[in-house]
Amino acid sequence: MNRSFFKSPFLVVALLALALLVVFMPGRTQRNKMPRTESIETTPSVTDKIETGARLYQQSGCATCHGTGAEGTARGPALTELEDRWDPTVLSAYLKNPKSYREKDERLQRLSKRYFPVLMPGLETLNEAERSLISDYLLRRLED
Ligand code: HEC
Repeated sequence: MNRSFFKSPFLVVALLALALLVVFMPGRTQRNKMPRTESIETTPSVTDKIETGARLYQQSGCATCHGTGAEGTARGPALTELEDRWDPTVLSAYLKNPKSYREKDERLQRLSKRYFPVLMPGLETLNEAERSLISDYLLRRLED
């Protein structure tokens, strides 16, 4: 009787200590497994994407005909209010093959006549991701 009275509180303390260990150990290892800040840093933000699009626009020669601020030149129209006419996917496809769109779109034919003999060239050297970054840049920039 006496023996079990002294034994049991000791047992309770020992069990509690063990329970605390079990509860806190996995918590610690889980935290180590999740490098949260890292994954946030490697995901490009919308601003980064727009900046890359802007850089690609300048580097791909678009500015030569459409102007550095897309304000238009004697060789190409201003690229303003594009969001009224284009959605990002179609605009991206257009940049790859403007000729096919020109053939079936009267507005583009009229536009093309105005800048004759300069024609909007197909930008075969750009990959799909780059074209989509440029069209995002052209569409979102104008929302500001
Ligand atoms: C050699 C000059 C030239 C270059 C380089 C050029 N464009 Fe064009 N772009 C034109 C002309 C001219 C048109 C008028 C339509 C046509 O000719 O088919 C046009 C039309 C467009 C249109 C349609 C405008 C509208 O009102 O819907 C977009 C969008 C466009 N260009 C984007 C670009 C982008 C982005 C680049 C660079 C990746 C680029 N262009 C490079 C000359 C050029």
